[in-house]
Amino acid sequence: MKIAILGTGYVGLSTGVCLSQIGHQVTCLDINEQKIVQLRKGISPIYEPGLDDLLTMNMAAGKLKFTTSQPEALANAEIIIVAVGTPQGDDGAADLSYLVQASKDISSYINHDTIIVIKSTVPVGTNDFIKKLIEDYCGFPVKMVSNPEFLRQGSAIDDTLKADRIIIGSENEEAASKIQKMYRPLNVEVIITSTKSAEMIKYASNAFLATKISYINEIANLCEAVGADVQDVARGMGKDKRIGEEFLYAGIGYGGSCFPKDVKALLHTAGVNGVKFPLLKETIAINDFQREVLVAKVLKRFGGLKGKKIAMLGLAFKPETDDMREAPSIPIAAALTKYGAEVVAYDPVATDNARKIIGDSIKYAGSIDEAVHEADAVLIVTEWKEVKSIDVAEMLAKMKEPIIFDGRNCFPEETIRACGSVEYYPIGKPAIII
Ligand code: UDX
Repeated sequence: MKIAILGTGYVGLSTGVCLSQIGHQVTCLDINEQKIVQLRKGISPIYEPGLDDLLTMNMAAGKLKFTTSQPEALANAEIIIVAVGTPQGDDGAADLSYLVQASKDISSYINHDTIIVIKSTVPVGTNDFIKKLIEDYCGFPVKMVSNPEFLRQGSAIDDTLKADRIIIGSENEEAASKIQKMYRPLNVEVIITSTKSAEMIKYASNAFLATKISYINEIANLCEAVGADVQDVARGMGKDKRIGEEFLYAGIGYGGSCFPKDVKALLHTAGVNGVKFPLLKETIAINDFQREVLVAKVLKRFGGLKGKKIAMLGLAFKPETDDMREAPSIPIAAALTKYGAEVVAYDPVATDNARKIIGDSIKYAGSIDEAVHEADAVLIVTEWKEVKSIDVAEMLAKMKEPIIFDGRNCFPEETIRACGSVEYYPIGKPAIII
């Protein structure tokens, strides 16, 4: 099939690469000239395992193209997939301005058979609104499909090629069945729903996962208070199939480009429809609180932080990505510097992005060794493999004081106990002080 994709962000690029991989002819369109120039050279603008190989392979096979030219991408496309950003607006609602612009752009190139797929995360009712907008421009009925994505950064390619499900929401049976056919080579279960239900599935899923994280984080806080171990508790809970083992990792709160924005957007949708949804308010409040627990522990341990050197290991909102959006490291760095600490941070890939957001209020190290050298304490913020595989005893030997605040529970108790003199403060488990 001949497919055009609007927007080469995370979702658009991963989708484009994967659809070309399963045999379709894909042209990706973006207004950012620089990005397209790089992509044409086979250079991905994002760090995503597996993406570069598929990118170069499918470009070489002539199945994947990049352009800034609307006619080149859109004129003969059978299917147009819209994957432009829907960032959070000032009022908590999703900002649809890119989507509205994309709709105008599309309408000059489509015919009666073109299928328009909205992949961007959009509030319930947006597909209907966009359909009307495009029809007003082009003057004939258009075929629309809501097709939300569930890919995670860091495993975007795998999540697309081996998805748990594909959601196709449409009031047009012919369009729904063509999109189902487009995905057939993936051999993934397809659920066909109304447009509104498809839109809701995306928000309901993300808000549920965010709530699951806030729930286990609150259990972690309770475990600390009563002397239980949240990892044992999560393991015991997760074996119940109705609960499931995933997304029960207690830590310093969820971040990234989706959960914080989507929970707020769903709460906004609830509000404008007269539904209070207090559960979501608590999910957000718990997450805000959780971002402060590491710093609270540091302050409790040291009293003041003036003259203390604190090493932060990890800056990205999670491992295997250079994305800093809503990363817990941002408020943590701000709080530590506010209390007068000298902060030296290390991240395997997110340093450049972090510098743009956090700036020069902290220092950036080129290695773990450099960051922890003579540090009064280490804070573990992102559970990178490189961090989890540290020789803890060796690291402690390089520090001024052997103190670790672990926001991601990276090390088993035996590893810490084998280190000799140490103070280890995990999340939701008893501290180890030897
Ligand atoms: C998420 C959804 O998983 C994905 O389906 C959707 O399409 C986009 O949003 P992503 O933002 O890439 O994906 O990250 P994810 O792996 O889901 O993690 C989100 C945040 O939750 C991270 O900050 C992570 O550290 C945190 N998290 C996740 C926890 O704190 N505990 C967990 O158990 C799981």
